[in-house]
Amino acid sequence: MRILPESIDIARDVTKALAERGGRAADSGLSLPFLASMAAAAGDGDHVDIGSLYGASALVVALIKRKLGLKGDVYCIDPYDQKKRDASVKPSAGLDTPVSATPEELLANAEHFDVELKLIRKNSHPWPEELKDNVFVSAYIDGDHLGEAPMNDFLNLRGRVTGYIGTDNFEEEYADVVRMILFAAAQEDWFLYYKSMIFAALRRILPPRHMDDAGANMVLR
Ligand SMILES: C[S@@+](CC[C@H](N)C(=O)[O-])C[C@H]1O[C@@H](n2cnc3c(N)ncnc32)[C@H](O)[C@@H]1O
Repeated sequence: MRILPESIDIARDVTKALAERGGRAADSGLSLPFLASMAAAAGDGDHVDIGSLYGASALVVALIKRKLGLKGDVYCIDPYDQKKRDASVKPSAGLDTPVSATPEELLANAEHFDVELKLIRKNSHPWPEELKDNVFVSAYIDGDHLGEAPMNDFLNLRGRVTGYIGTDNFEEEYADVVRMILFAAAQEDWFLYYKSMIFAALRRILPPRHMDDAGANMVLR
């Protein structure tokens, strides 16, 4: 994947602005340039962000879309439930960074950057009824990192995303995120697309050209 210079500038701006506004980008924004470049590669179409906190990941996607003139809305799925958040987002010991985001702060951050984020204030599993018929070109998994949650996120997105699925925290500390990516990359419909530091992305596999006419048309259209 080509890392776009624009994605680096946008990630820096978002990380800085959120810190100044009393929030933060997860993992100091380490994965944000990769995420924005992935969303750019996906092209026109909607994006869904699972686990939005102060909005860093959703904002970089909205901003790269605007910068490149790409169509599509950005949806955020996050329950903003303190108990769930404390279980899934604990700042590392000694790191005094805020994690108590509210939906109001997410939407105020969107307003600050003059972009729209469509918030579904729910858990990502079971998949929200409001989005049951939606199709996305790209998605980012950064919600509950433990137990079956990352796998459920992939399974829920598997048939709804046509392009790329990224994830944060592909690292030793989050064995269930690692398990989900390794499983997903071994399926017939998804493959490993890109990995750098703790960001990993999957790409949807199109039917091979030789398979049949329908497959060939899809590839060539
Ligand atoms: C690591 S933070 C997300 C950071 C954000 N993506 C960023 O770029 O700064 C995890 C978020 O996941 C949310 N979350 C926890 N469990 C969830 C679930 N089951 N579904 C969706 N979001 C969840 C938390 O409320 C928290 O805001």
